[in-house]
Amino acid sequence: MPDVVGDSPASPPGVDAVVARVRAVVRPKIRAMHAYPVAKATGLIKLDAMENPYGLSGEARAEMAAAVANARINRYPDGSGDEVKAALREAQGLGNDVGLVLGNGSDEILQLLTMLVAKPGATVLAPEPSFVLYRMQADVYDLRFVGVPLRADLTLDTDAMLAAIARTRPALVWLAVPNNPTGTLFPAADVERIVAAAPGLVAVDEAYHAFAEATLLPRVLAFPNLVVVRTLSKVGMAGVRLGYAAAHPAWIAEIDKIRPPYNVNVLTQAVVPVLLRHGELLAEQAAAIRRERARMAKELAVLPGATVFPSAANFLLVRVPDANAWFTTLREAGILVKNVHGWHPLLDNCLRITIGTPAENNAVLEALARPA
Ligand SMILES: Cc1ncc(COP(=O)(O)O)c(C=O)c1O
Repeated sequence: MPDVVGDSPASPPGVDAVVARVRAVVRPKIRAMHAYPVAKATGLIKLDAMENPYGLSGEARAEMAAAVANARINRYPDGSGDEVKAALREAQGLGNDVGLVLGNGSDEILQLLTMLVAKPGATVLAPEPSFVLYRMQADVYDLRFVGVPLRADLTLDTDAMLAAIARTRPALVWLAVPNNPTGTLFPAADVERIVAAAPGLVAVDEAYHAFAEATLLPRVLAFPNLVVVRTLSKVGMAGVRLGYAAAHPAWIAEIDKIRPPYNVNVLTQAVVPVLLRHGELLAEQAAAIRRERARMAKELAVLPGATVFPSAANFLLVRVPDANAWFTTLREAGILVKNVHGWHPLLDNCLRITIGTPAENNAVLEALARPA
């Protein structure tokens, strides 16, 4: 064993000494936070994270394997991800007048947009309940977060949103369309009223657009303050980690200044253009998920005491008599869903169930049909 260089102490510091340093350095708001919970799902039917349950075709897998084999992992990735952007433009029919920035998942885009507007006293505003990272990121950057409750039926309270915007003058407004965890599709006219009224940036997060068949992307340049956020995660590529933002190039230029220079790795950049060439397959899978969503909504609604909220996403929010008991029943049947009871008063006794394959969905229905 080589000698340790320097004046290292004879024994490592005790936990109290380390905790004292943590307390001295890390802000109380961050110390009070919890890491984003990711449940282990080994061996379970995984219906907790809105993934696409279908795999790729043999042809797509072979093309992906070739792309990975040829990837130059000894080199840093293309910092601007030009090939991926070209493939996205082609897939979405986007012209060069719309600016694009890529992220390591749209989680990173969310972080970058929060970072972009972060200055002392700035406000971030979103309807609630919505995607929990909007509030978490605001906390990380020490911004004021204003949550505007949805109505009791989980639809957007547009008047309350407009009043809160007038009162708090937010630097950033988040609108998940469709919304997570409710599945609600906020009406396009209301979204546009909010964009028009907001003094700062409005981020319309279209993570679930493929299941809603509604989008503001073609209108992104119609407003001076709109950014549309997208992800490939929900359409079959959650493991690849690619998100993006589309906006006027003036916004993209600012985001690019704060983006880590090589944030999208070589393997992701190699694989995404290949997978996007199989867009027809991904679209068929999204259509199958929409059909299953309609079937599941009907079947779950007849369970005693269950209320299914209308969803335009690849999951259903269901209010049940006892969310903890129903969650346990499903878990014992080998099925993992998300128990969102306790997240927000409007989610009392609610489970969020991702739409799986027909066989997976049948397993849910069978487990819930059994007497407790
Ligand atoms: C509304 C919304 N936005 C963004 C994300 C993040 O997706 P990803 O980081 O996989 O792109 C999610 C994930 O669940 C989401 O629900």
